[in-house]
Amino acid sequence: MHAILVLPDQALQWGECPDLQPAPGEVLVRVQATALNRADLMQRAGHYPPPAGASEVLGLEMAGRIVGVGAGVTAWGAGQDVCALLPGGGYASLASVPADMLLPMPPGWSYAQAAALPEAALTAFVNLYVEAALQPAETVLVHAGASGVGTAAIQLCKASGNAVYATVGSAQKAAHCLAVGALQALDHHTLDFAAELLRTAGAVDVILDPVGAGYFERNLQLLRVRGRLVLISTLSGAQAALDLRVLMGKRLRVIGSVLRSRTLAEKVAITRAFVERFWPAVVDGRLLPVIDSEFAITEAAAAHARMAANLNIGKIVLHMP
Ligand SMILES: NC(=O)c1ccc[n+]([C@@H]2O[C@H](COP(=O)([O-])OP(=O)(O)OC[C@H]3O[C@@H](n4cnc5c(N)ncnc54)[C@H](OP(=O)(O)O)[C@@H]3O)[C@@H](O)[C@H]2O)c1
Repeated sequence: MHAILVLPDQALQWGECPDLQPAPGEVLVRVQATALNRADLMQRAGHYPPPAGASEVLGLEMAGRIVGVGAGVTAWGAGQDVCALLPGGGYASLASVPADMLLPMPPGWSYAQAAALPEAALTAFVNLYVEAALQPAETVLVHAGASGVGTAAIQLCKASGNAVYATVGSAQKAAHCLAVGALQALDHHTLDFAAELLRTAGAVDVILDPVGAGYFERNLQLLRVRGRLVLISTLSGAQAALDLRVLMGKRLRVIGSVLRSRTLAEKVAITRAFVERFWPAVVDGRLLPVIDSEFAITEAAAAHARMAANLNIGKIVLHMP
């Protein structure tokens, strides 16, 4: 089989590696497409090692066709098209995936669309509906609204009937957020998002934030009483000062959340809960990955450069040869 190898100088090379065999309870998938995540850039740079036992190969999601099943797998068989969240190993021609993590390929979707679904949709889902326990009629602010996760979060909020706002870094990104369901998209280069939303829409109940330190104080300012801030990354920095009186006065909750390092049982439970609540939205097109661009796997470095420059709107997909 082939996989993307990260060379000592961080160059990416599509090279040969030993074939995978499906372990008991797993299926072997011939990967047709994978999609980029910000975490791939960090892992390549040596800042985000895979969890214990996971593949060292980059790639947190894939879509492809089952070519073998391990002992004990009865629900899936060779020839079925599937997609799945992975702890690693998506930038490869074969992936061995726990059968309980598989999602069927949504009807009529391409491999590119299916590969772009799991990480963004499950991250948005678990953080909004499980961690923040978003309730009907509550309002949401999604930072980095035009990111892969952001576009999925906006679509989920729209599907669940929650008013959703976004922050973005350009007018073009703002237009895409509005197109997928945001009521307002605020350019963080030109506007103070907290002051602007307080002026136009008022305080919000839930904030999904990968930006971290640079937004922390304004996030707390913008939250309503009993609001929840879910921190999913630290794009602007990880050290922030906190006035504990703001937390107490508004009875706020600040929640930190990472998907990748959770146990398989947790990830299976998240996947099943997502399917139960939102599979109808997948099938009828309310949740449809926004595809920014598609590259051959041999062009993975160019795809990474596009994401590193914050140019993508939605997901970047890599196709296997
Ligand atoms: N905790 C978890 O389990 C989990 C899982 C998946 C993803 N994540 C995180 O969620 C975020 C989105 O992931 P993704 O793969 O969808 O990312 P992505 O498509 O690469 O989007 C990231 C966007 O964040 C914005 N951004 C970057 N640096 C910023 C800064 N300093 N201040 C403000 N905005 C900044 C940029 O958009 P603008 O041009 O609009 O500013 C950039 O395009 C990433 O930070 C990722 O690490 C966390």
